[in-house]
Amino acid sequence: MCSARTSMLIVCLPCQPIILVLLDITPMLPVLDGVVMELQDCALPLLREVIPTDKVEVGFKDLDAAILVGSMPRKEGMERKDLLNANVAIFKTQGEALEKYAKKTVKVLVVGNPANTNCLIASKSAPSIPKENFSCLTRLDHNRARSQVAMRVGVPSDSVKNVIIWGNHSSTQYPDVHHAIVNHHGKEMSGFDAVNDESWLKGDFITTVQQRGAAVIKARKLSSAMSAAKAICDHMRDIWFGTPDGEWVSMGVYSTGNSYGVPNDLMYSFPVMIKNKTWKVVDGLSINDFSRGKMDATAAELVDERDTALTFLGA
Ligand code: LMR
Repeated sequence: MCSARTSMLIVCLPCQPIILVLLDITPMLPVLDGVVMELQDCALPLLREVIPTDKVEVGFKDLDAAILVGSMPRKEGMERKDLLNANVAIFKTQGEALEKYAKKTVKVLVVGNPANTNCLIASKSAPSIPKENFSCLTRLDHNRARSQVAMRVGVPSDSVKNVIIWGNHSSTQYPDVHHAIVNHHGKEMSGFDAVNDESWLKGDFITTVQQRGAAVIKARKLSSAMSAAKAICDHMRDIWFGTPDGEWVSMGVYSTGNSYGVPNDLMYSFPVMIKNKTWKVVDGLSINDFSRGKMDATAAELVDERDTALTFLGA
């Protein structure tokens, strides 16, 4: 999911056919040609054109949707501060390019890590694009949580809905099943009742989801790819077409300080419902002390990341 290079997919909608513009750095253009060939070879009926480019003015021109997947990954021995510094530079440039070339209605999804803070920096660097148009990917964590519960209960993953990922796409994120509903062989049950193992739900379940990205990297020696791509498609499809009635999904979105006591001016993952390409935080869910502590801990990490990143942005 993370790479040192810059790449981006652009989807031209609202109609179903899409044009993909793939932006990468010049040395990667020969590799990009291979990606174009593979896309052509998929014979995707809705894919009308693929435009590979190393030019920002081509890559960002008149975009309806931008998926920012490239960021500087953490290398051995690298301090968190160094990682933020490098990424502030990348996402400031990309935000400025969106500001200059993209449509003001563009929907921007930030995937490159640290995704929440990168997304905040990109949005601050594109002041004429509404902050609500920016989101970062926690759908991968949402899907992981859904799947872990489904496997535990022995049902298909679509029998589990309304899990929540709160906060940062990092190991402080809080995967929460307090409001989840499981269709257990025809009977709707709460997540806790269906799983029937509170210590697992409050222990290994949470740490498994929090550390899944690192576990995939350890096993594959590469970051998640297929599951990340699936989550990106899920996220963008839901922005375009909305969430099913009665269901929410998790997305990192701009916090105005008005939901769940989360501080203002953070990209924080909340449960959201989407209609007409507009997301709304699902407010009013009850939060117990266990959840509160975890939601505050991940918020504190985001405040810290933001404050460090802003010192670089101002410099
Ligand atoms: C993931 O959750 O799989 C990735 O964000 C991990 C990473 O650092 O690339």
